Amino acid sequence: MATSANALLCFFLFLLPLSINAATFQIVNRCSFTVWAAWVSTGPRTGGGSQLSPGQSWTINVNASTTGGRIWARTGCSFDSSGRGSCQTGDCGGVLQCQDYGRPPNTLAEFALNQFNNLDFFDISLVEGYNVGLDFSPTTGGCRGVRCSANIVGECPAPLRVPGGCNSPCAMFWTPEYCCTNGPCRPTIWDFFKRRCPDAYTSPQDDQTSTFTCPAGTNYSVTFCP
Ligand SMILES: *[C@@H]1O[C@H](CO)[C@@H](O)[C@H](O)[C@H]1NC(C)=O
Ligand SMILES: *[C@@H]1O[C@H](CO)[C@@H](O)[C@H](O)[C@H]1NC(C)=O
Repeated sequence: MATSANALLCFFLFLLPLSINAATFQIVNRCSFTVWAAWVSTGPRTGGGSQLSPGQSWTINVNASTTGGRIWARTGCSFDSSGRGSCQTGDCGGVLQCQDYGRPPNTLAEFALNQFNNLDFFDISLVEGYNVGLDFSPTTGGCRGVRCSANIVGECPAPLRVPGGCNSPCAMFWTPEYCCTNGPCRPTIWDFFKRRCPDAYTSPQDDQTSTFTCPAGTNYSVTFCP
């Protein structure tokens, strides 16, 4: 009797919260070209990567002890059989299985799971520039998602243009003026991104309207070139 009561207690205290707080992300490549998807957690770094031909998808299960992370596409990669190589955009230290953030420009799907009020917080961020369009949407939970798929690479201002993408002013020039660490962001250059993707988080001082919420336990899809 005591044993089964303990087992039941164990289930409710341990297993149930675990299954509630974990999240599944289905990452889909709708681009007309191959991308190398990547994700890493915030905090203690863990992550991974997967080559996706057009139409392919990759599902990751982010466990309950992972509070947050980011997902992005790498482009123009080549890796050897041991998973070492490089990418034109989003490269994470020359490995297929990312354990660290990517090199800009890379459009980011960012998330923080099970935060304040048992909510997930998520956004699309262009603070590290733009390489491919993104859609970041819940697949459960009845809440709304966010999309940024404008022609940002094609219309990129010349000073920000780099092979395979459009860099952010901060990642490109790396000065307090452009990273907005010494006062307000200079609107003109950051406005290029905000006009094209009003729902995305586009500069280091962007307001909170670019952050979206869903109940903790929601599953998501992240689509490249939606
Ligand atoms: C859960 O994820 C964390 C990092 O986010 C990792 O350190 C840990 O090993 C994972 N646990 C399981 C059971 O997969
Ligand atoms: C999320 O996905 C997992 C794994 O596929 C599933 O077990 C869970 O029920 C899903 N959550 C919701 C809220 O549907």
